[in-house]
Amino acid sequence: MKKFIHYLLVFCFVVSCKDKSTTKLSQNEVVQNTTLTNFDTQINDLMAKMTLEEKIGQMNQYNGFWDATGPNPDKGKSAKKYEELRKGHVGSMLNIKEGVKQVKALQKIAVEETRLGIPLIIAFDVIHGFKTITPIPLAEAASWDLEAIKKSAQNAAEEAAAAGINWTFAPMVDTSRDPRWGRVMEGGGEDPYLGAKIATARIKGFQGKNLSSTKTIAACAKHFAGYGFSEAGRDYNTVDIGTSTLNNVVFPPFKAAAEAGVKTFMNSFNELNGIPATGNTFLQRDVLKGKWNFNGFVVSDWASMVEMIAHGYAEDEEHAAELSIKAGADMDMESYVYVEHLANLVKRGSVKETLINDAVKRILKVKYELGLFEDPYKYCDEEREKAVTGKQEFRDDALDMSKKSIVLLKNKKKLLPLKKKNQKIALIGALAKDKTSPLGNWSLAGEPGSAVSVLEGLQKYKGNILKYAKGVDVITVDSPTGWSDKAIINETDTSGFSEAITLAKKADVVVMVLGEHGIQTGEARSRANIDLPGLQQELLEAVYKVNKNIVLVLTNGRPLTIPWADKNIPSILETWQLGVQSGNAIAQVLYGDYNPSGKLPMTFPRSLGQIPIYYNYKSTGRPNGNNVFWSHYLDEKKTPLYPFGHGLSYTSFSYNNLKINKVNNREVKISVNLTNTGKVKGKEVAQLYIHDLFASVTRPVRELKGFKLIQLNPSETKIIHFTLTEKELGFYDNKGTFVIEPGKFEVFVGGSSDAKLAQKFTLE
Ligand code: BGC
Repeated sequence: MKKFIHYLLVFCFVVSCKDKSTTKLSQNEVVQNTTLTNFDTQINDLMAKMTLEEKIGQMNQYNGFWDATGPNPDKGKSAKKYEELRKGHVGSMLNIKEGVKQVKALQKIAVEETRLGIPLIIAFDVIHGFKTITPIPLAEAASWDLEAIKKSAQNAAEEAAAAGINWTFAPMVDTSRDPRWGRVMEGGGEDPYLGAKIATARIKGFQGKNLSSTKTIAACAKHFAGYGFSEAGRDYNTVDIGTSTLNNVVFPPFKAAAEAGVKTFMNSFNELNGIPATGNTFLQRDVLKGKWNFNGFVVSDWASMVEMIAHGYAEDEEHAAELSIKAGADMDMESYVYVEHLANLVKRGSVKETLINDAVKRILKVKYELGLFEDPYKYCDEEREKAVTGKQEFRDDALDMSKKSIVLLKNKKKLLPLKKKNQKIALIGALAKDKTSPLGNWSLAGEPGSAVSVLEGLQKYKGNILKYAKGVDVITVDSPTGWSDKAIINETDTSGFSEAITLAKKADVVVMVLGEHGIQTGEARSRANIDLPGLQQELLEAVYKVNKNIVLVLTNGRPLTIPWADKNIPSILETWQLGVQSGNAIAQVLYGDYNPSGKLPMTFPRSLGQIPIYYNYKSTGRPNGNNVFWSHYLDEKKTPLYPFGHGLSYTSFSYNNLKINKVNNREVKISVNLTNTGKVKGKEVAQLYIHDLFASVTRPVRELKGFKLIQLNPSETKIIHFTLTEKELGFYDNKGTFVIEPGKFEVFVGGSSDAKLAQKFTLE
């Protein structure tokens, strides 16, 4: 009771204070009543105590003092950070990677040294695991296994939360059709339907059911919007796309994220049809906060507010701040324009304080939901951090996720699975021994060298004679010190060729691990050529001359152009960058202890000139022809090397008896029989595509609208059922309205987007 009276007195004193900014409040005054589930009252009470500058402080996010994931701000600004923190001018910090000790130190300043004691929200790019690095998101997408993907995000959240992190900048849900763009490794691939499902699974994994649990963190759907369509695959480049693509291809995963209750969105570096996404009112206010009713907050991308000057959209920093807040960006990451200019803009009447209030409310709400007001140190338990970091359970799940992510692209001579005894195996390629590259980009908190290499994975199988030769280095920096390093591709040193060739000559089977180093994909890692980097193609051809029994193990963060390998190499396994368990997963698949079931989430082109190439293209008026006047290339096929959805198994599957049971016009039920026609147990991703044959806005020749993971014993058959509802049958017209139009549809079911089994139905 005494305590209550004390609070009451202090509270009355505080609210009656004329100059809010000079009165220091204790943490307790801010946190009273947090047991209520609706935080409106607390937020309103708190906001009544805040000065304009303190409100704007909540909208300001600084990078930590240690590591940067964008251009470093100039020293003067950076040096001011501690000072600003003490004044309550910082609401959030990112890139705090050393764990609880660092977080606690920062939180202590925010909570104990600022006037209102509002805790910071600590953000980090937990993109694929935190310390226990899991497969890159594009690899996880290749599993099509939503439960496993959700579990992976859940583990990442638990491990990050134990290190004091509250908020991840993931999932990246940018649909992307251009493998030159280095960031395809961060997303779910080219398809909006699969992308939406993955977005939902990852958000549910990160956020769980209770955000204030010490096992969950807030998620962030990024980059809103269009970033995956950067022209020519060059990062940060211009985006100019029409309404139909925006609504039907780019938006769906973002909309799904909003529907899944994602707490935050990140806007984007790119301009969209002439307006930078960061200053884009249509995107942030009209669509996201308006039409989709999103009530979390929007953070800018790194310095994307100030970059509107370089875009030629903002005149100066003050103008950038004005444009950003008006467009609906709530938090400024590393532009410093809110903290430096918003107060003046409000005082001058150029920006209404109600806009500031709305942004701050959104931010505080997430802080309350995370339980930070209840206990600002709840994520700062060093004992828990020790117990949780790198848990065996996380490593087991990472292994499971890694195996599920592997795609068998080709297996002609049935070289795979490898025989377990009496074989001489030559393992070739610098990436076969690399323990850092498999971590892939965006593995910021991961330990360099913490991945199991392919060599180590294969060494666990003792029945064969395994010998290793490097052949050739991919890049010349052996172990990059940080992922912001630039990779220097080895274009000259072939000194290891002869050892590799000698080894290959004597081997029964050659396993060649080739591809991209982990540092060659990710942000700002666009490539104008997407073949095997450096001298690896030359090495492959040299080894092929002496031994044709080659298993090519690809490791890369994007689709590659490998037409020569496809033509000549009997077995090709796509293993992406799989994280800490990489070598174990690859070895188990190579030896058949795990039967691969992954399917490509992005099309593999035959050549660069085909890009952008994707399965859900439009027909054109001249899709086929027998003379020259049709939509094709003179010097290349128009089909991909490996289509979206493609992936083989050590067994085989057949689809038949596709039936359409139209229940009514708004719901179509479909069934098909799937049989395992091979000799071993296997899992298949059965995929359903539709083609709306004619519509008021032309529809793609195929659109994924359903998939099921089915495990079958040899000779076993299962009937698979799919249901198409309005959601799958409709599309967005050019006004952005969702419509379902009557007419004829075709349905395809099979093991890839090339599925041949088809039926038709009509919607009345
Ligand atoms: C990236 C974001 C990332 C942010 C913070 C930016 O450069 O585009 O995706 O979350 O940095 O690290």
